[in-house]
Amino acid sequence: MSKGLVVLDFGGQYAHLIANRIRRLHVYASTLPPDACAQDLAEADGIILSGGPASVYDDDSPPFNEAILESGKPILGLCYGHQLLCHALGGAVALGETMEYGAAILEVDSPTGVLKGLAAKERIWMSHRDTVRGLPPGFRTLASTDHCPIAAMADDERRIFGMQFHPEVTHTESGMKILDNFLDLCGSERDWTMENFISDSMQAIVEKIGDRKVFLLVSGGVDSTVCFLLLNKALGPDRVQGLHIDNGFMRLGETALVERLLRDSGLTNLHVVDASAEFLAAVEGIADPEEKRLRIGTEFIAVRDRVLENMGMDPEEWLLGQGTLYTDTIESGGTDHAKVIKTHHNRVGVIEQLLAEGKVIEPLDQLYKDEVRALGEALGLPHHLVWRHPFPGPGLAVRALCVNGANDPAPATAAAAAAEIAAGFGLDVHILPLRSVGVQGDGRTYAHPVVLTGKSTGHTSVMPERDGIPWSSLEKLSTELTNAIPQINRVILQLGPDHGLKQSLKTAYLTRDRLDLLRQADDLVMTALERHGLMEQVTQMPTVLLPLSCDGVGESIVLRPITTDDFMTATFDQLPQDFLEQVTAGLLALNGIEAVYYDITHKPPGTVEWE
Ligand code: XMP
Repeated sequence: MSKGLVVLDFGGQYAHLIANRIRRLHVYASTLPPDACAQDLAEADGIILSGGPASVYDDDSPPFNEAILESGKPILGLCYGHQLLCHALGGAVALGETMEYGAAILEVDSPTGVLKGLAAKERIWMSHRDTVRGLPPGFRTLASTDHCPIAAMADDERRIFGMQFHPEVTHTESGMKILDNFLDLCGSERDWTMENFISDSMQAIVEKIGDRKVFLLVSGGVDSTVCFLLLNKALGPDRVQGLHIDNGFMRLGETALVERLLRDSGLTNLHVVDASAEFLAAVEGIADPEEKRLRIGTEFIAVRDRVLENMGMDPEEWLLGQGTLYTDTIESGGTDHAKVIKTHHNRVGVIEQLLAEGKVIEPLDQLYKDEVRALGEALGLPHHLVWRHPFPGPGLAVRALCVNGANDPAPATAAAAAAEIAAGFGLDVHILPLRSVGVQGDGRTYAHPVVLTGKSTGHTSVMPERDGIPWSSLEKLSTELTNAIPQINRVILQLGPDHGLKQSLKTAYLTRDRLDLLRQADDLVMTALERHGLMEQVTQMPTVLLPLSCDGVGESIVLRPITTDDFMTATFDQLPQDFLEQVTAGLLALNGIEAVYYDITHKPPGTVEWE
């Protein structure tokens, strides 16, 4: 079998995804730390330098072994890797000059080498601040964007290539073609398959467990369900027990549904507990998103411990099982140089401790959602279970924003800059006095959303089809606002009501009443999605509750429909007018909802969830 490729991980959000994409092209790929030595790479067909949050000028930028540049192997640098190549080989990198997040158009001057077969214009995905400004000797420019004159470069003789954008994310439309071209240049044989992965992971489970057993947390989403099935197949049902915890942050009727679906699939070694009171107590009075996430993740383990004890099971004998994916690890800052974007519930301190003690098994921890779905199908799980919309472990708790009082306004300069950009598109804009989480240039941002309202359309609300505003203009406006103004990382439309609102923040925490209101709103949205036949087109659609109110009583809803394969990048969905109108009217009719917004932010710069 081919020795495959090595990806050097500089801490980029997509570093590991590169290896995943290469494997999908049937070439084995592994990930190594950035300071790997030439000897570690001796067997590789080629080397890829990943992106990362650092600047090449940082004193603490990740150590890198420049000798590998002399190895004679083909090298591809991506984003930070592109800047690093340029810096190390004598070119020029400009510091923090250009911010580009999300979609951009690549002008391909030379469709050769790694860019062989590309069109003159290609839609690509960017996430960077620093930019290559001068080529190193021996290189030529292959492609550029409006903001990035050297978006791709090549030294054909030495087979060294760099690109500022990310061919490894699915939203770069010809990304797989580019990686395929690089594999051709490396002369790699295409002999790696998914079946290799399945048999390897079954064997790894058996070896890791030895004579112990697994107590698996099962939310009923695709990850934990596939994991449950895989563990059952590898170990047999007597050595696996599933635990479904109703944390009170679930969708309407979710626990009963999960219990039924799993039992119908033959997964009967399952316990169900209602721990909603404990979880609610754990987050009482907490507003900070990370603090909420930490407390919820910790509570899962407290409940597991209690159940183990009540059932007389020995924690030394029963390892903690989790359906953790690689996405959860990387966003939680789980590799050497990666930043924390948000701490996933399965990566809180108490679980890290159990991991360090070797008391956790996570058979899917190297996979992404699309691979887990492929694995679920290969293992015979029914289509409706494999393709359920994902729902995060902390559930509605990270979709009900909490605030302990004061408004958090953005600076007037940001408001003025936003107004000027929006006016160019015939829309008004105001910045909300709260923040949501984003991911920009491989780092976490916690910045303001802006609301777009009508100006010359005869309406205050914005409904793209009704108002004759192309979705493509809204996408452009959203990208311009978040690229140009650092205080803004999210853009939303006011869908209703159709008049101006003077809203401000009201103090709000996680209470049963708020969760019930959000649960009702979420159910209304999901039912409408089903009724309009949009369930398969939309990958996930969080409904978010904002404590924004005109009268200090009502609240606001944001709809966040997205499309993605692997959740590392995502595009906002462009849903039809009749759906938007019906859902808006339905939500505004709920007691306690006074405004409905629609999120038009890609990932990056926004994350899927607001917290
Ligand atoms: P973000 O918001 O990070 O979401 O763009 C990417 C995907 O991850 C889900 N998500 C979570 N899933 N535990 C989970 O099991 C978590 O703590 C968590 N946080 C986000 C999110 O719903 C989306 O599918």
